[in-house]
Amino acid sequence: MREQLNIIKQKAIEELKTLDTPKQLEEFRVKYLGKKGELTAILKQMGSLSEEERPIIGKLANEVRLFLEDEIESKSNQLNSLALEQRLREEKIDVTIPGKRRRIGAMHPLSIVQKELEEIFIGMGFDIVEGPEVELDYYNFEALNIPKNHPARDTQDTFYITENILLRTQTSPVQIRTMEKKKPPIRIIAPGRVYRSDAVDATHSPLFHQIEGLVVDKGITMADLKGTLDTFAKRLYGEDAKLRFRPHHFQFTEPSAEVDVMCFACHGEGCRLCKGEGWIEILGAGMVHPKVLSICGIDPEVYSGFAFGLGLERITMRRYNINDIRLLFENDVRFLRQF
Ligand code: PHE
Repeated sequence: MREQLNIIKQKAIEELKTLDTPKQLEEFRVKYLGKKGELTAILKQMGSLSEEERPIIGKLANEVRLFLEDEIESKSNQLNSLALEQRLREEKIDVTIPGKRRRIGAMHPLSIVQKELEEIFIGMGFDIVEGPEVELDYYNFEALNIPKNHPARDTQDTFYITENILLRTQTSPVQIRTMEKKKPPIRIIAPGRVYRSDAVDATHSPLFHQIEGLVVDKGITMADLKGTLDTFAKRLYGEDAKLRFRPHHFQFTEPSAEVDVMCFACHGEGCRLCKGEGWIEILGAGMVHPKVLSICGIDPEVYSGFAFGLGLERITMRRYNINDIRLLFENDVRFLRQF
């Protein structure tokens, strides 16, 4: 039996060297120390030993058991730390590797300027309203005092859905829609897309943007129009901005004007930017025509108002020195990323 114990011990020592997973180690433990294990089997035979032999073999068997338990524990520690090492190796993070760069989108230049203009008018107490881009002939022309077959339609040819439904050529129809719904005082701006069947070139696009302004109340005069636009120009271009009103004609305003801002590059001298004019046209404006007020059910004897309309592309292009309107609509990220 002493012999057997030694054999078991030697065998166990050899076997232990070949183990390299916790699972194998557990199998090893069961094999020797489990209920049906080899060492346990020997201990069970103790009863057949003589009185003298029993304590000696018992002591020896116990030593072997303790020895194996020790070995198992240290092997277990060894395997655990190996596993930990491996995991650390696998999960190692190299903090010096350059990160993946994510590109963040930018606001479109037209949106930047539109937002800025909106802020200026909100600051003056205007509300922002919207109208449909697919519009009735009635709102786009008829109610704005531009009857069918009137020559004023010539410059605003557009895309027709049906004879009476079209893509709006201006934001002015929002004036009508607003006055139909709301009685004065009215103080709104209406930004949005407009369409004209113009051929595409560096300064023309069949789709562009306008911002309409409308103020209607008792006692509104041309002085209010000039004051409002003057304040607007100073907010947009700085305190020394100067405006010039030139007489003009629009069907839905009377009197009408085109409004220029003094060229901020040459201060009126004339340069390349203003094409030698000294002034740059920025918008159309006028006092709302009494006929238009009447059509909307507002009594022109009691109320008066002014309106203006400006082109967003023009202001944006001048602001950022963009020389071709097509750049604004081509969606080339190399261009858009710059804003
Ligand atoms: N709607 C006009 C245009 O597109 C501009 C305008 C708006 C003029 C409001 C006067 C008043 O040319």
